[in-house]
Formats: sequence, structure tokens, C-alpha cells
Amino acid sequence: MKSTKDFWVQKSEGKKIVMVTAYDYPSAKQVEQAQADVILVGDSLGNVVLGYDSTIYVTMEDMLHHAKAVKRGAPNTFIVVDMPFMSYHLSVRDTLINGARLIQETGAHAVKLEGADDVLPHIQALVKAGIPVVAHLGLTPQSAAVLGGFKVQGKDAEAARKMLADVKLCQEAGAFAIVLECIPQQLAKEISMSLAIPTIGIGAGVHTDGQVLVYHDILTYGVNRVPKFVKAYTNVDEQMTNALREYVSEVRSELFPKDQHSFTMKEEELKTLYG
Ligand code: KIV
Ligand code: NA
Repeated sequence: MKSTKDFWVQKSEGKKIVMVTAYDYPSAKQVEQAQADVILVGDSLGNVVLGYDSTIYVTMEDMLHHAKAVKRGAPNTFIVVDMPFMSYHLSVRDTLINGARLIQETGAHAVKLEGADDVLPHIQALVKAGIPVVAHLGLTPQSAAVLGGFKVQGKDAEAARKMLADVKLCQEAGAFAIVLECIPQQLAKEISMSLAIPTIGIGAGVHTDGQVLVYHDILTYGVNRVPKFVKAYTNVDEQMTNALREYVSEVRSELFPKDQHSFTMKEEELKTLYG
């Protein structure tokens, strides 16, 4: 099992940090078997598992429920859990209560929060209380409505300068790593070089200290729209739907179940039963 310190060592040695999302027992088991460094129980579960069109509908109860299952599937992997929409905005006290629940009730190791600015005191309070924090800047899906949709962030010099300042503030607030989502690769490179803590990119090019992708995107599993930054390594949708179609058809044509799938009573017992 890795620790936050191992991720700093990985950065200093130029060894990429590999993060993958997982949302339940089987996906967590697979990601642990694939030997990823970190599992993220992302609030993207709202989209890929629950079928919402936004992460803002995801609740604390959702995150707790899924993170517990992930922990059972990946007991030996470092697990980060997303703090859901509005669970770290109301007051520092609420943030601490919610952050503590996500760690204590699930056995996860760290939490992730989107944004800088007003979120910085919340990062600081969590870290002070002993809860490791991953920051998340660039395209922050929980505030997509304010950002004007799902667009690349930090494309102009002014926005890039603001982001360079914000990532430093996240580091100073105590974040041990930072996710950079959908930003130009040159900016991601500059940020990664300017920070002591590792950067983990998604749609941020090859120069970040690590990468993260959504489990369902890697596998093409139930996803409708695949963003430009995703590489799908297989398509399990076809395979799974075909298998299900075959089952439906075999039941209808009585090709399933066969004897080998059935239990049989001994002849003598049958005789006793019917006389
Ligand atoms: O929720 C999520 O899956 C994420 C990653 C895309 C970084 O936040
Ligand atoms: Na997220």
C-alpha cells in the first residue's frame, strides 16, 4: 500500500503515478489487480454509474456507499474519495464532519476537493485535522455551470497565470497532490515543474506527474460520450451486450439451462415420492 510520501518520492524519481477510478467491489478488485497506484472513488459515479447528467446530484450517502464497496474490493490500494457537491462549501465545520465521515466510515485514505479561492481554508482545515487532501483544478465538473460548460481551462495567459497562482495556494494549504483536468499541456508542464507535490492529469498532456482516467472510459462500459482526452483500451459494451443477448435468446429457445446446470433427484427418491 502506497502512502502520500511514496507519491512525492515517485515524483522526484520521475516515476508516473497511475490513478484509476473505481466505484464498486468488482471494479476495485480489477484496478487493484492491475496494480494502479491509487484508486479514486470519483463523483463521476453520478454520471457513469447512476446515470445523472451532472455530478451535482451526487450525495454524501452515495459517496459513502460506493467507497465502502471499493475498499472491500481493493483492501491494499491507496483510496481517494471525492467530496461531493456542497459537502465542503457551507462551513469549515461541515467540511470536517463530511471529510471525516468519508475516511472513517469507508476506510479510504484521502479526500479530493474541487477549486481554490474559498475552498483553500477547507483544504487547510482538513489537513490540520489529519485528513490527506488532493486538490482539483482546471475543469472542475461540480462548477461546470459557472464555467460555462465542459471546456478546456487556462487557455489564455490571464487564466493560466491565475491557475499557476492557485495551484501554489493549494500546495501551501497542504494538499499532497493535485488533479489537473482539461488544461493545455504546456500549462500542465509548467505547473508540474513549479510544484513540489505531484500533479495528476486528465486531459492535461503527458508532462504531469501522473494520469487518471475513468474506469468506464478505459473499458467503454456503458458510456455515451467519450471526450477527446480518453483512450479506450477495449470495448466491453459489445462483449457484455452480446453475452446478455445470447442468454435472453437461449432461455426463449430452451437451450439454457441444460442438465449440467440443473440438479437431479435420485430415481429411488422419485419412486418413494410418487409411489
Ligand atoms: O470524479 C472523477 O472521476 C474525477 C476524475 C476525472 C479526476 O474527479
Ligand atoms: Na470528481
